[in-house]
Amino acid sequence: MKILVIGTGYVGTTTALVFAENGHKVTGLDMDTKKIESLTAGNLHFYETGLEELLRKHLQNEMVQFTTNVEKAIQENDMIYICVGTPQNEDGSANLTYIEQVAKNVGKFMKGYKLVVTKSTVPVGTAEKVTNWIRGSQTSPHEFDVVSNPEFLREGSALYDALNPDRIVVGASTERAFQKMRELFGNVTCSYVETAPKAAELIKYAANAFLALKISYINELARLCDELNINVTEIATGIGLDKRIGTSFLRASLGYGGSCFPKDVNALLDTANQNSVSLSILESAVNVNKTQPFYVLEKMKEMLGGWEGKKVAVLGLSFKAGTDDMRESPSLIIIDYLIKKGVNVSVHDPVATFYTEYVSQHETVEKTVIDADAILICTDWPEYELLDWMSIKEVLRNPMIFDGRNMLNAEKLKRLGFLYQGIGYFY
Ligand code: UDX
Repeated sequence: MKILVIGTGYVGTTTALVFAENGHKVTGLDMDTKKIESLTAGNLHFYETGLEELLRKHLQNEMVQFTTNVEKAIQENDMIYICVGTPQNEDGSANLTYIEQVAKNVGKFMKGYKLVVTKSTVPVGTAEKVTNWIRGSQTSPHEFDVVSNPEFLREGSALYDALNPDRIVVGASTERAFQKMRELFGNVTCSYVETAPKAAELIKYAANAFLALKISYINELARLCDELNINVTEIATGIGLDKRIGTSFLRASLGYGGSCFPKDVNALLDTANQNSVSLSILESAVNVNKTQPFYVLEKMKEMLGGWEGKKVAVLGLSFKAGTDDMRESPSLIIIDYLIKKGVNVSVHDPVATFYTEYVSQHETVEKTVIDADAILICTDWPEYELLDWMSIKEVLRNPMIFDGRNMLNAEKLKRLGFLYQGIGYFY
């Protein structure tokens, strides 16, 4: 099939390349000439494992091309995927400006039938709005269908997730649209859910919010574990082995971050609010997430005996491993707090870069930790597990590790003479 993907950000680029990998001819469209130039030259404008190789492969075999020519791209493709951003408005709601722009362009330039699919995370009722925007900007009447096909991929494993989905959700209102989507996904082996557009839109938010709930639940339990001298990772394993609960998303941490969970949870709360429904369980989860970094900082302060004259080495900036994305990363809240307390902060991240004069960023962990009074692990980069902790201890002023991800081998570090503290971790 010939597919147009509008928006070459993170989701759009991955979607386009996975369609190409599945044998479709894809055009990626964006207003941002820099992005298009970079993609056309085979360079990805963000970091994502394995994606650049796939980009180069499909540029070479001409399965994918990129353009800024909106009119031509819309006219030459009957299947149009909308993958533009839906940033957060100040009141927590999702901003649909980009979606509206795209829908109006589709209406304006279409000269025949179009199947318009939203992949961006959009609030319930957006398919209806898209339909109205298209209809309202048509210069002559042409038929079209609007479908919701939400994306569930994670940053850092976007390619794997997009190639191996747990399920595909398709929300449509006509048999013609369902039929075309079945053709597109004809060879997939995963579960395939057909539903109404509104339900598909809500499934996306409800899934992300549920995962956020799981994280906040384990993070709050971790606080109880700290009081009871119980190891929260054992609780997570013990409960997670019940198939009804499941082991994933039960890793205690400094809180969830990223471009999706915080934004999507707020947008769902806004939708509930608009409909006079209270999602109090979700409000509590947001509150746990907001307070989690400060809970850890308080513990750290106690163990350090105050912040004055202290140096803290922060390991990891990105909101999780495998990405350079720092959006809503707990590390930023932590660093901001430490700077305000007058702490000398040095940071390290294998890929993310932090631009501020108030902290020093180093290329190696070894340099970052020199003379530190404590190390604080913010991101679960696997390389931190493999460090030569013996020689790291030599250069520290004080052998204290705060493991905000419970990722290090506490027993081993204790044997080496470290004072180790995890989240809800007792040894
Ligand atoms: C998420 C969803 O997983 C994905 O389906 C959706 O399409 C987009 O949002 P992403 O934001 O890339 O993906 O990251 P994810 O791996 O889900 O992690 C989100 C945050 O939760 C990260 O900050 C991560 O460190 C944190 N997390 C995750 C935990 O603190 N504990 C866990 O057990 C799992």
